[in-house]
Parts: sequence; C-alpha cells; structure tokens
Amino acid sequence: MIKRLLVTGAGGRLGHHLREPLKGSAEILRLSDIVDISPAARGEEVVQCDLADREAVDALASDCDMILHLGAISGEASFDALLQGNFLGTYNLYEAARKAGVRRILFASTNHVIGFHAVGETLDHKSERRPDSLYGVSKCFGEDLSRFYYDKFGLETACLRIGSCFEAPKDRRMLSTWLSPRDFLSLVRKLIEVPTIGHLVLYGVSANRDAWWSNAHADFLGWKPRDTSEPYREAIEQSEKQPAEGSHYQGGRLAAIGILGKR
Ligand SMILES: NC(=O)c1ccc[n+]([C@@H]2O[C@H](COP(=O)([O-])OP(=O)(O)OC[C@H]3O[C@@H](n4cnc5c(N)ncnc54)[C@H](O)[C@@H]3O)[C@@H](O)[C@H]2O)c1
Repeated sequence: MIKRLLVTGAGGRLGHHLREPLKGSAEILRLSDIVDISPAARGEEVVQCDLADREAVDALASDCDMILHLGAISGEASFDALLQGNFLGTYNLYEAARKAGVRRILFASTNHVIGFHAVGETLDHKSERRPDSLYGVSKCFGEDLSRFYYDKFGLETACLRIGSCFEAPKDRRMLSTWLSPRDFLSLVRKLIEVPTIGHLVLYGVSANRDAWWSNAHADFLGWKPRDTSEPYREAIEQSEKQPAEGSHYQGGRLAAIGILGKR
C-alpha cells in the first residue's frame, strides 16, 4: 500500500464518490479542494488550497507518493477561469509533484479532448486530439504537460479521458460515453496498484455496446469494466426522440456551443 495519496478536487462529485472507498489504497489520504471539505476522518488529512496558488500547491504535494488530480473547472467556462483552475493549477501541481518526488499522477482528463470527432468513429489513444471547447483545450494542455514531465523527469501519468461518470446514463450520448462510478473506482484502484504505467492515455468508459473508444493498448493493466449502459437504453430512446444539440459530435453539446462570454 502506498503511504500518502493526494486527491485534488476531493470536494467535487467524483472526489466525493471516491473519498470512502479509496481509504484502502493508501495509509493516508490527503484530500484537498478550493472549498472547505473538513473535518478530516481517521486516515485523512484535509487541506483547503487553490491550485492556482503556487506556494500552497508546493506544500500540498510534499510527502505524497501519488496524486489523483481531479481538481479543475470541470466544464466549459471562460478562458480566464480555465487559466487559473486548469492551466495554472495543473502546471503548479506538476511542478510541485516533481519537487516532492511524487511517483505517479492520475490526471482526470476528458473525452472533450477528442470531442470534434464524429459519432461512430472508433478512437484510441493515438487518435488525433480535436478539443471541442476551451475546457477540452485546457485538458489537452494537461495531457501534454504530463508527457513533458514524464519524458524529462520520469514522473508517471495516466491521462484518464473520462467519458460521463454518473450514477446512470442520462441521454443517448451517454449510452456510448457512460462510465459507472463502480468502473471508475476499479480503474483508479488498478492505476494505483500496477507497478509501472509510464505515460499512459486511456478512456474512462464502461463496457457500453456502442462505445466509441478502444483501450486495447492498455490490456496489460488487466482492467475490465463491469457495467454497461444497455439496461438504460430503452427508457432513454423512448424519452429522447429528437437529436440533441451537437449530437453528430462525440463531444455533444460542448462541440455545438460558442465560446462562453463571446458573441
Ligand atoms: N464527472 C465526469 O463525468 C467527468 C468527465 C470528464 C472529466 N472529468 C474530470 O474529472 C474531474 C472531477 O470531475 P467532477 O465531476 O468531480 O467535477 P466537479 O466540478 O464536481 O469537481 C471539481 C472540483 O475541483 C475543485 N476546483 C475547481 N477549481 C479549483 C481550484 N482552482 N483549486 C482547487 N480546487 C478547485 C472544485 O471546487 C470541485 O470540488 C475534473 O477534472 C473533470 O474535468 C469528469
């Protein structure tokens, strides 16, 4: 078991879901968010920290062995907001991790780095990135930064291109992109446990019938998603008769909307 696992964005939806089950993966969970998520339970440390604050992030990463980096603006936003939380925040985290000798980062990337690919195309880790939003661009930056830190310093990263992680798929698009919370947890656990990952890009998606993404290159992990969106298909197809905004694109609505704050 690793000694100390830092989880950024621990106050968000995914962080909240993982807080309890990740306890068995590290002796100490250091949980952090820009919002207050105290009190710390047994085996936890809680640190309130803005990822854009370089000194605070340096202190945050100290004495950590691995980092699950969930903290970010998690959808489309103005460039200025993304600049702080995602661009600067991710840079600060990688630099702090390097200085602290962190071994591995699990970086919560997104399917929106490939969102301008057409629905029905099958993509893998080598497919061209086609971000569908400034949010997607900010996660492309994080992926490139992680590659740079691996090539230059040997800091391992798994870039997890998470699909749609909700209790259940909510619309037709999610019949392809859904990642069940249970599959997400098993993937994170696997990525913590395997001895070596190098620099790995993979898709966070359940075993959906019409999935657009292949993780064949990551078979060595031995991760098998257990859930599928199929049981939800009939109800979703009944309720969503018209094509949704941006439905030609894998990124869906984010591919269709303009830049926020611009005309
Ligand atoms: N949930 C999904 O389906 C999904 C899909 C693709 C990618 N992701 C990525 O996974 C991660 C977690 O997603 P989520 O659904 O839990 O999002 P979320 O918005 O619920 O959680 C993100 C957390 O990050 C924190 N945060 C934002 N800016 C910060 C800053 N400057 N400093 C410190 N903390 C900050 C927020 O307070 C929040 O608690 C995000 O990076 C998101 O981009 C999620």
